[in-house]
Amino acid sequence: MPQVTPEIPGLVRGLEGIIAAPTAICDLDGVNGRLAYCGYDIEDLARHSTFEEVVYLLWNGELPTREQLGTHQRALVAARAIPEPLIAAMRLYPKPAVSMAALRAAVAQLGLYDTEAEDVSAEAQRRIALRLTAQMPTIVAAYQRIQLDQPVIPPRPDLGHAANFLYMLTGEEPDPRDSRALDTTLILYAEHEMNASSFAARVAASTLSDVYSAVTAGIATIKGPLHGGAGEAVMRTLEEIGSIDNLEPFVMQALAAKRRFMGFGHRVYKSGDPRARILMSMAEEVCARHGDEKWYRLSRGLHEIVYREKRLLPNVDFYSAALLRAMGIPMELNVPIITIARIAGWTAQLFEQYADNRLFRPRAAYIGHGRREYTPLEQRNPGNSR
Ligand code: ACO
Repeated sequence: MPQVTPEIPGLVRGLEGIIAAPTAICDLDGVNGRLAYCGYDIEDLARHSTFEEVVYLLWNGELPTREQLGTHQRALVAARAIPEPLIAAMRLYPKPAVSMAALRAAVAQLGLYDTEAEDVSAEAQRRIALRLTAQMPTIVAAYQRIQLDQPVIPPRPDLGHAANFLYMLTGEEPDPRDSRALDTTLILYAEHEMNASSFAARVAASTLSDVYSAVTAGIATIKGPLHGGAGEAVMRTLEEIGSIDNLEPFVMQALAAKRRFMGFGHRVYKSGDPRARILMSMAEEVCARHGDEKWYRLSRGLHEIVYREKRLLPNVDFYSAALLRAMGIPMELNVPIITIARIAGWTAQLFEQYADNRLFRPRAAYIGHGRREYTPLEQRNPGNSR
């Protein structure tokens, strides 16, 4: 049952427990810590699928046959390139810019180059979703290289989605084990029911605004540190802790200062986030393979102490920080990487929203002044206005 603030009947702070829409995409069991996309357990998808397959599943409700997957992959590959004027515009963004602010601007701008952008028919939605999913990694990689004054690297059609992203970032063909680790990470982040950014995207779509606008609302929302932005904040925390010896003093000081532990806690999961469990073992493997175990060890230590002291468990953003760091990915890209995965879930949910739409328009409980007499400008003073 939703928690209702006693003083204001009907008010549910943070909309906790409120069911805002039906969905056939994501089945999130917060009590038992289980997650499934279209009926397939996240552990099975993480172990056996590719991101491209999961995108197909989220958009179609079924896993693809080999032939369907081939067609889908070829369509994604063909759509990877981004318009030249967009690259030129990104070069003009002020430096340094926050990577998510640049992604938000670039995706909004991408819509200007899409002649179908204002079309919200079911067919156009699917074509736009495909382009966005294919092009957002290209934007993120291109902008990262622009920031570093490096030449932009065009996509390589012979590489899979994750491998091509790593290639566009570095210019080098990645180790297949790193590509697979990133691919699995993208699967784990691809969809997550009525999280804040999916809700924001659905709210925008519920006005019958276009897909680019809805996705831009999603990007603006996932950016925040209580949502996807936690990924970067986790890495900053690990850097602040610095060494195993400092773990215990850090946690004690953080508790005394009532600081939030980024990457811990969740609105829905009460017995742990299943994605965090998968990412924990992936982070261990990737950090060990790269000979960069410091971040994994710090993460494990922090996990244990925060659980001991607060009974808080890590969420999806916790171990992904160490994993991405060991792969040499700068922490500013943690949230953009979550976003290039979540575009799959956002667009799948937008298909549902447009197909069965009703405007989101909740109410607010008014707690301001009662009705009062209007004060003419010349009679106002700081004491009688607020
Ligand atoms: N660190 C310290 N205390 C916490 C944390 C945390 N990470 N999470 C919850 N709590 C405490 C709160 O202080 C609060 O305590 P109080 O009742 O004594 O005041 C209680 O638990 C409930 O906290 P709320 O913020 O009301 O819980 P909510 O369900 O709104 O929060 C959230 C969920 C925002 C994820 C929270 O756990 C948090 O801030 N975590 C850190 C940020 C983070 O990791 N976000 C990523 C989430 S996953 C994702 O979006 C991809």
